[in-house]
Amino acid sequence: HNHIGHATPDKVQAAIAAGDTHAHLPYYEGLSAYRHRGGYVELERLRKGADWDAVQDLLEAAGLRGMGGAGFPSGRKWGFVRAAPGARYLAVNGDEGEPGTFKDRVHLEREPHVTLEGMLIAAAAVEAERCFIYMRDEYPAVLEILRREIAALEASGLVAPGYIELRRGAGAYICGEESAMIESIEGNRGLPRHRPPYVAQNGIFGRPTLVHNVETLHWVAMICREGPDILNGVERNGRTGYRNYSVSGRVAAPGVYLLPAGSTILDIIDAAGGMLKGHTFKAYQPGGPSSGLLPASMDDVPLDFDTLQPHGTFIGSAAVVVLSDHDSAKDAALNMLRFFEDESCGQCTPCRVGCEKAVKLMQADRWDGDLLEDLCQVMTDASICGLGQAAPNPIRLVMKHFPEEV
Ligand code: NAI
Ligand code: SF4
Repeated sequence: HNHIGHATPDKVQAAIAAGDTHAHLPYYEGLSAYRHRGGYVELERLRKGADWDAVQDLLEAAGLRGMGGAGFPSGRKWGFVRAAPGARYLAVNGDEGEPGTFKDRVHLEREPHVTLEGMLIAAAAVEAERCFIYMRDEYPAVLEILRREIAALEASGLVAPGYIELRRGAGAYICGEESAMIESIEGNRGLPRHRPPYVAQNGIFGRPTLVHNVETLHWVAMICREGPDILNGVERNGRTGYRNYSVSGRVAAPGVYLLPAGSTILDIIDAAGGMLKGHTFKAYQPGGPSSGLLPASMDDVPLDFDTLQPHGTFIGSAAVVVLSDHDSAKDAALNMLRFFEDESCGQCTPCRVGCEKAVKLMQADRWDGDLLEDLCQVMTDASICGLGQAAPNPIRLVMKHFPEEV
């Protein structure tokens, strides 16, 4: 399934031959191997004088949307930042903290330069003065790869020394929320900001900032190089494009699977080698704990942006966790709420107190459905950021689809 975008055995061999890999790191494609296959040609061409409106149109034609999970149209985001006056920054969100999500790690541990080239193209498009890469500290190999490859880029003259600044996260889930990430980059505690103003207008140190997820930038490079068909040329179940599904749980071969964006949970389980022996498919988390749990009976929904909205959830970062008849949906939901309780930044009462209260209520043998629904509504309506707004999803979906358990 990994027919584009990932290092094939040939590329790995080429990387080894070029001396680009190191014993204590995963095999990855270094700068010389990437350039050998045409890497950075597109960046250099665009830097010589690009029609950035046309490049932006290209992203729109490809249908590229934010792969961190929100699915905001990437070309439109470029437009907002390009229209904002003053010196601008670019930030790469590599704080991949959604439980079950590990696609960005796979990209960077295999082909870091595809994302780096996408970042430099986007930076040129918005005339960013500087690029910040905010990388989660739990990915030490990725950090080491980036340190080496940024140094290699500087040595090659493709970027000026200091143009790319690598920042380490410190393990807080909330710092993956873009405005909390920006606070953290500025040296402050990672507390989400109110919006508007959006970061496109008021980001790092008050400057217009283009924030993209790692994978989104991967696709920017791929689209610039291959054309929009690389995404919009693939169709399944009425949806176009690809998703990198991070698949874990009760499947035979957990991993990242690149599949058409219209894939259903059955396609995904199939790609991951089927269910583990002795396990029967019962439920799935489509996109991280914020997306809650769906029952196995909902096996024909294309798992793409927008398609889960009528079902009260979303695909998000496509962190698919498969549960079986050995698992309890009630326990899974409680586990998710415990995670949100731990990770809430505590800034607003509906989320800070709401998560704590939900965990207490969910520990009862029988859930008080009316009280929980009341609490969910307050959290959804009144929390500042996505964490508190989406935390009720596991509660609501388990009450709806697994009433016999709660
Ligand atoms: P959002 O919809 O508020 O924003 C998405 C992006 O569009 C942001 O960059 C925002 O600045 C921009 N944007 C939206 N409206 C705009 C406007 N009018 N003008 C300018 N820019 C605008 O979503 P959010 O809160 O950033 O992300 C939520 C998603 O993140 C969820 O789907 C969740 O699944 C995902 N997520 C992913 C994680 C991961 O590890 N990849 C971790 C946690 C959540
Ligand atoms: Fe912090 Fe939760 Fe409020 Fe977000 S919703 S700002 S995580 S307390």
